[in-house]
Amino acid sequence: MMIQIKEKKKLAAGLNKALAWELRAYAMYAQYAAYIKGLESLTLKPHFAQEASESIGHAGKVRELLALLEVEAVTVRDESPIVHTEDYHVMLTESLKTEETAARTYQKLLPLCKEHPSFTHALMHIYMAELNAVEEAKALLGR
Ligand SMILES: [Fe+2]
Repeated sequence: MMIQIKEKKKLAAGLNKALAWELRAYAMYAQYAAYIKGLESLTLKPHFAQEASESIGHAGKVRELLALLEVEAVTVRDESPIVHTEDYHVMLTESLKTEETAARTYQKLLPLCKEHPSFTHALMHIYMAELNAVEEAKALLGR
């Protein structure tokens, strides 16, 4: 099935940006899940592990949308540096920044696929999940 979308080029570029950001988020959360230690690891190890797998899930959905558009999906992560730390507060701060950027990225994509309900639906789901993750990171930071 050929997908007709007016802003296909812009949408494809944005989806690839989102995909690269998910791949970066995966790498960051996997790293933090491995390096978290002490008392905080009781809650934060499973939390980071879950965020890592959620990032893989989002990447998978975005990749499928790119395939539907018949556009090549990126295979490398966004190059923005990942802060290496064993300080859980820094981890959570980096996590909050990552989720805020993800939410903004999906928010920008929504108007580009207005005329395509299945794209809107898929992206809306991910966008809501990112908003939840932002709130969760804030709560864990005590904000
Ligand atoms: Fe995500």
